[in-house]
Amino acid sequence: MSNAIDIQDLVVEFPGARGGAVRALQGLSLSVAQGQVYGFLGPNGAGKTTTMHVLLGFIEATAGVARLFDEDVRQAIARRRIGYLPEHPDTYRFLTGRELLFMAGRLFGLSRAVLNARSAELLALVGLETAADRRLATYSRGMLQRIGLAQALVNDPDLVILDEPTSGLDPLGRIRIREIIAALRERGKTVFFSSHELSEVERVCDRVGILATGCLVAEGRMAELVKAGEPAVAGEPAIAGESLEQYFIRMVS
Ligand SMILES: Nc1ncnc2c1ncn2[C@@H]1O[C@H](COP(=O)(O)OP(=O)(O)OP(=O)(O)O)[C@@H](O)[C@H]1O
Ligand SMILES: [Mg+2]
Repeated sequence: MSNAIDIQDLVVEFPGARGGAVRALQGLSLSVAQGQVYGFLGPNGAGKTTTMHVLLGFIEATAGVARLFDEDVRQAIARRRIGYLPEHPDTYRFLTGRELLFMAGRLFGLSRAVLNARSAELLALVGLETAADRRLATYSRGMLQRIGLAQALVNDPDLVILDEPTSGLDPLGRIRIREIIAALRERGKTVFFSSHELSEVERVCDRVGILATGCLVAEGRMAELVKAGEPAVAGEPAIAGESLEQYFIRMVS
């Protein structure tokens, strides 16, 4: 079975000041097997969003190769099985939440009958039933994040790429995201997401990669990265002697 994501020696350079270049990715290699939940971590500016933009075909890499389900990301067909939540899901503000889901679903060729059922299901999943027929212009930040997630799932994708899915969400919203990710895993889906919420990552990921200045500085199964030991917080399950947060700080400093 092919990997959901395969990245080899990826380099991305942006034009910098005075004719120079900013190297956002410096030879990044990583793979995500199908069915895994992969947490993509790293400080601000490490290159997480840039990596996702290459996978989505928004920007072209300066060097290296990226594949989704064995298709080069430069081929449009590579994107047919993916869903994406952007870092700033600020979309067509004149549409209602339900209309946004319909528009996204129509782009994937879904019929009106399928979309009626699916949009109702997704609006319930992200807790937006009562706001479904309001314009997005009236949504709060967290509500835009929720509708963005529903939009990412409208085509029932096999790979879901989420750029900071819990950003702007209240505690219940965060728990809901965790449940949604767990439910996607149950259904054999692959989830690749970035986050700064290390306690969330610790709970939900099979594997994590830590990026710093465009290079992977640590990668592995969650259970291998943080050693089993005493509970990090009294009353919480015993996840680690060293918490992911402590490990993260050690790796990026
Ligand atoms: N369009 C662009 N032009 C120039 N530089 C860019 C551009 N996009 C990103 N960069 C630079 O590339 C580097 C990586 O940025 P990126 O947005 O991928 O980081 P990130 O890991 O997603 O950070 P954050 O956690 O803050 O979202 C940064 O130095 C950023 O300034
Ligand atoms: Mg980012």
